Amino acid sequence: MNRIPVVLDCDTGCDDAMAILTGLACPEMDIRAITTVAGNVELKYTSVNTLNLVDALGYEVPVAVGKDTPLFRPLTTAKEVHGEKGMGSVELPVSTRDFDSESAIDVIVREAKKAAGELHLVAVGPLTNIAHLMMTYPEVKPLIKHLTIMGGAIDGGNVTPCAEFNIHVDPEAARIVSESGVPQTWVTLDATMQATIDGAMIEELRGIDTKKAKVAVELLDFMVDRNKRFHVEGAVMHDGLALASVAMPSLLIGDKYFLTVETKGVETTGKTVVDVARVTGKPNNAFVTTGMDVEKFRAWMKEMIVNEA
Ligand code: RIB
Ligand code: CA
Repeated sequence: MNRIPVVLDCDTGCDDAMAILTGLACPEMDIRAITTVAGNVELKYTSVNTLNLVDALGYEVPVAVGKDTPLFRPLTTAKEVHGEKGMGSVELPVSTRDFDSESAIDVIVREAKKAAGELHLVAVGPLTNIAHLMMTYPEVKPLIKHLTIMGGAIDGGNVTPCAEFNIHVDPEAARIVSESGVPQTWVTLDATMQATIDGAMIEELRGIDTKKAKVAVELLDFMVDRNKRFHVEGAVMHDGLALASVAMPSLLIGDKYFLTVETKGVETTGKTVVDVARVTGKPNNAFVTTGMDVEKFRAWMKEMIVNEA
């Protein structure tokens, strides 16, 4: 089987961790490197969370450190959602491995060249690293086959009434990425809010005596409990859906639209402005989700948590 070469850029918090845990187990994807960015928590935590998790799961995927603050704004985190250090109540052994000696954007360039135009770049945190990559190395754009982003919302938001966290943290970076010309899919809250794992599925996983299943159950328990504060049912797999869609594009429902990002609003900064009615006449620059296949996704998540490669 020709596995899909992937680089994942993340701000490892709980749902990023679930994406890593399931993505590494997916036979259709070959995650060649993981890059880290500040977002859910500070960069020092998103980076060690990622390295410790990859090691705890028994993989040797390179982890490269990226940007610690948004392009033009101070960092705002989501500790209230992911916990002080980003991994909820999960304590993992401290990795003895070093981070990759190259920076996040240099690793993405390295892997893009190795993949010879077949690289799928997946960004599930603020888009700071991705914008930095495109500004620093514009020549890499043709080597990125597809960019999948977890971010934004056609309707609504989870930080303000109209801004989703990843985009709200660094709206300027998101706008730069939306204008990059790289083929891209935006997996928005319109889809990811349906990508939930409920208590019944967690109970099916609870008895499985593997490291992977135990870490997954602890993360899910924390997310379900923490989400009660926000009147959200279950654990929401925002990032898991985005990464899974690389292996299974049929998970996503949506269409190609013109998308841009508000960076100068009073109440609307960080809003992804999606021309659903096609009134601007501007060319479509993104596939944007409007929904997803929740049962297919849940089955995939369970299989990736249960299977032992
Ligand atoms: O809004 C959800 C997104 O913001 C997810 O990527 C979550 O990990 C946070 O980064
Ligand atoms: Ca994330």
